[in-house]
Amino acid sequence: MTDTAVGIDAIEIHAGKLKLDLPETFAPAMGDDPGKYTEGLGLYASSLPDTYEDIVTMGANAAHRLMERKGLEPAHVGRIDVATESAFDHSKPVSTYIAGCLEQVFDGDFHHANKGERKFACVAGTQSIDDAYNWIRAGRHRGRAALVVATDTALYARDDPGEATQGAGAVAMLIDEDPDLVELSTEQGYGSADETDFLKPQQQFPSVDGKRSMAVYLARMREALVDYESVGGNIHPEDFRLGPFHTPFPGMVRKAGVLAYRHITRDTDIEAELADGIGRQPRPEAFDDDGAYMDALGEYTDALKETDRYREWYDDTIDPTLDLSREVGNWYTGSVHVARVSGLAALAEAGEAAAGERLLVGSYGSGAQAEIHVETVQDGWLEEIDALNVGYQLASRYDLSFPEYEDVHDAHNFDEETGVEEFTAPDGEFVFDGWGRMGERKYRYVE
Ligand code: COA
Repeated sequence: MTDTAVGIDAIEIHAGKLKLDLPETFAPAMGDDPGKYTEGLGLYASSLPDTYEDIVTMGANAAHRLMERKGLEPAHVGRIDVATESAFDHSKPVSTYIAGCLEQVFDGDFHHANKGERKFACVAGTQSIDDAYNWIRAGRHRGRAALVVATDTALYARDDPGEATQGAGAVAMLIDEDPDLVELSTEQGYGSADETDFLKPQQQFPSVDGKRSMAVYLARMREALVDYESVGGNIHPEDFRLGPFHTPFPGMVRKAGVLAYRHITRDTDIEAELADGIGRQPRPEAFDDDGAYMDALGEYTDALKETDRYREWYDDTIDPTLDLSREVGNWYTGSVHVARVSGLAALAEAGEAAAGERLLVGSYGSGAQAEIHVETVQDGWLEEIDALNVGYQLASRYDLSFPEYEDVHDAHNFDEETGVEEFTAPDGEFVFDGWGRMGERKYRYVE
């Protein structure tokens, strides 16, 4: 059992190399007003994989860059966990493919690393971090670090409402003792229930009840917040510099933000200060029935949303976490980890001294489970964030026309046979290289 700080030592991101511009390309083709995307959903573009990219190449490319940058060799890694909801095999985990890719470019191998695959919709990335944390804290790691890769191709069936919120990319994270980026709290809160909002029963593209998933997200997140407070103590909004939340699309987090703020300001100085303008929060005991209470709560929330106090908090704490998501869409298991990077990158750009600041991190997976924990920014954070090249990756994406987007969607559809050519040229990265004799996927490193 070790008592040293455990957390995220380093992060790398690999974005799908194609871009679908939502207001300029997708909206007109779908007959939609661009405002639905930019204002309503809060999205400007989706990152999509080129024809030679998939969850393995994106994950391996992110992990490769991370290991190179941190000067790691396979012997330093005792665990590789992949979180995904886009897996293509019910038995062989994606982590074995990623290890195989990395063994093409590093000396040594991962034969003594424990590998697995985590599934619980979008919360699985955070659960994999948890597994790594527990493994290290239990002292079973033999001084080695864990590699966690959250990788997804979030494609929906054509004409499904979810098509507006697609995305593809991978986040690789190194979990280690004495981390350079953030330390993880031991305290956690869970909100978990058997729900049917998003699922893929033996099918590639999800069956999703988008409106229901939004309601379940909010309910489970609230439950997790209450559970966190039972072990971590009451949360006050000013205790946290950033609130990275799972971001299926920024509009979802905008809805969650005001509900979270209402919850964490109840019985605080902030509720008292706002009372002159919008009254105190309704309490259930003051109402004869649930309906009247819910109506009053809704009215209070609408008024709260318009206060300067709330807007300032939202602009400082939540909005910076959404910058990347606006440009890449939903990366499922990677989404909350993209939100963390996005927020920290905004602080770096603003020249803020963030070491010692705390983050309130909210993860969510349909089906459904929310998890809340706290992270403390470490001294090495700025160097880690400055080392990312995600801005360059996003700016270099190939901008698809609508017919090209249709071809790319078909190329990644397991049920379609297509001969679509790639749109970009691979450069210093792993690529999909065809099929093996047992139907396994083959990968190759292109210099
Ligand atoms: N200007 C500004 N806003 C506009 C607009 C315009 N011209 N047109 C629409 N909007 C707003 C709508 O009012 C709505 O906002 P609201 O929810 O605050 O009312 C938003 O844009 C989206 O429009 P809507 O008509 O509801 O879109 P939709 O029915 O096509 O579906 C989702 C939206 C999010 C439900 C759908 O994209 C989806 O299912 N996504 C997948 C969700 C998911 O993955 N869930 C699982 C993980 S949590």
